[in-house]
Amino acid sequence: MEMVQQINSKVMGIEEILKRYLPKEEGYQKIVIEAMNYSILAGGKRLRPMLMQETYRLFGGKSLVIEPFMAAMEMIHTYSLVHDDLPAMDNDEYRRGQKTTHVMYGEAFGILAGDGLLNFAFETALRAFDLEPENVNIAKALKILAHKAGIYGMIGGQTVDVEYVGRPLSKERLDFIYRLKTSALLEASMLIGAVLAGATKNEQRLVEQAAADLGLAFQIQDDILDVTGTQEALGKPIGSDEKNHKTTYVTLEGLENSKKEVEKLSRRAVKQLEGLVVKNEFLVQLMLYLIQREQ
Ligand code: IPE
Ligand code: IPE
Ligand code: MG
Ligand code: MG
Ligand code: MG
Repeated sequence: MEMVQQINSKVMGIEEILKRYLPKEEGYQKIVIEAMNYSILAGGKRLRPMLMQETYRLFGGKSLVIEPFMAAMEMIHTYSLVHDDLPAMDNDEYRRGQKTTHVMYGEAFGILAGDGLLNFAFETALRAFDLEPENVNIAKALKILAHKAGIYGMIGGQTVDVEYVGRPLSKERLDFIYRLKTSALLEASMLIGAVLAGATKNEQRLVEQAAADLGLAFQIQDDILDVTGTQEALGKPIGSDEKNHKTTYVTLEGLENSKKEVEKLSRRAVKQLEGLVVKNEFLVQLMLYLIQREQ
C-alpha cells in the first residue's frame, strides 16, 4: 500500500477513537461543547495520536489503555491551535480548511473552547484508570502529558514566541521556542506510547530525543510551508508569520538551509529509533514522509 493510503487508513482509525471520547453536545453549556467539537472534528493530520499509537506498537503495546491518551493528546493539540489563532495571538481566520473557532463562535467561546479542551483532555486521559485501575504506568503517562503541555513545554514555547514578536531573536532562543512550542507535544506523544507499553528508561530516553528532533524538523517545515505552501493544501492561511513579524527559521537561515535542516533532523531522529532492538517500519516511513509534506 502507498504511504498516503496507509496514513489515511490510520487517520480513520484514530478518528473513530476520538469520536468515542468527545463530549455530548447537551446542557445549558452546550455552546462551548459545540465549539470544542467543531475544532476537533474539522480534521487535521492527527499526527500526535498516530505517533503515540505507533510508538506504543513499537514497544509491543496491545491494550486499549492507549486510546484515551490518544484522544487526550489530540484535544490538547487542538486547544493549542484554537488559542494560537486568537486575535491576541496569531490572529488567523482559517484552520483545518474551516473558519477558526473564534471566527465561528466569537472570541469568548474561542477562549472557553480552548480551556474546555485542555481540561477535558485530562478528564479523558484519566479514564484510562477505568480500563486498568492497577496500571502504574498510567500515572507516569499523565505526568508526562501535564508537564509537556505546560510552562516547561508547549505553553512555555508559545510564551517566548509571543514575547519576541517583532524583536530580534538568536538561533539559540528560536530553537528553545521550537523545542517547547512544537517538540514538547511530539515528545509527550511518543513518550507516553513508550511508557504505557513498558519501555525501559533507556528506550524512553532515545524515543524522547528522536521526538525532539522530529518536532524541530516539523516546525521548520511549518515555517517553510508558511512561505511556499498554499492555503488549499494547508487548510490555514499562508504568510501568517510575515504578517505577525515573526522571526522564523526561514527568516533567520533562508529557505534552502531550512530545508536541509528538516532533512538532517528527521534523518537523525530516524537513526535514533533504528538504534533500538524493536522495530516499527511504518513509524520510520512516517518520519521520513514528513520531510516532504506539503500539508
Ligand atoms: C500545527 O500542527 C501547529 C504546529 C505545531 C506547526 P499540525 O500541522 O500538526 O496541525 P494539524 O493537526 O494537522 O491541523
Ligand atoms: C504554533 O506554531 C505551535 C503551537 C503550539 C500551536 P504556529 O503558530 O507556527 O502554528 P500554525 O502555523 O499557526 O499552525
Ligand atoms: Mg503561533
Ligand atoms: Mg499560528
Ligand atoms: Mg506556522
